[in-house]
Amino acid sequence: MKSDFDQVMEEMQASIIEDARKLYSETVIQRWINPRQMGEIRDPQAHGQVMGPCGDTLEIFLKIEGGRIIDARFLTSGCMTTIAAGCMACELAIGRSTGEAFTIGQELILEKLGGLPKESEHCALLASNTLRAALSDYLEKRDRPRNGLSGKK
Ligand code: FES
Repeated sequence: MKSDFDQVMEEMQASIIEDARKLYSETVIQRWINPRQMGEIRDPQAHGQVMGPCGDTLEIFLKIEGGRIIDARFLTSGCMTTIAAGCMACELAIGRSTGEAFTIGQELILEKLGGLPKESEHCALLASNTLRAALSDYLEKRDRPRNGLSGKK
């Protein structure tokens, strides 16, 4: 049986979600409530971390095999829209080549989220920038050994 406290908490949560539905698409709400890609990848092939102008930080971890992204996860200190945007950036990256993933920009993330209020659109930019930072990290690591060997016989 639920305690009074649990009951009150559940009702509060339901009311917060109902209020959020007035402002955000169902896609955003679902990724906020259940951010499937949230978490860390141990020993990722790529990692990016970017701080947005609001001070929120987003991190993206990529698992890459044969130049294709097979898993993507994120962590953030940010708000619900940053969670939704980070989650969407990871979902869009999975299955794409690293080159294709570079094309995942703010507009695509916003489109797939069903839009965000104007004042939250920068969260999608943060997600795109963080994904690109992770991809740059991958390219740097991939090219480093080759550069290190240059000139050697
Ligand atoms: Fe900080 Fe969205 S509110 S990134």
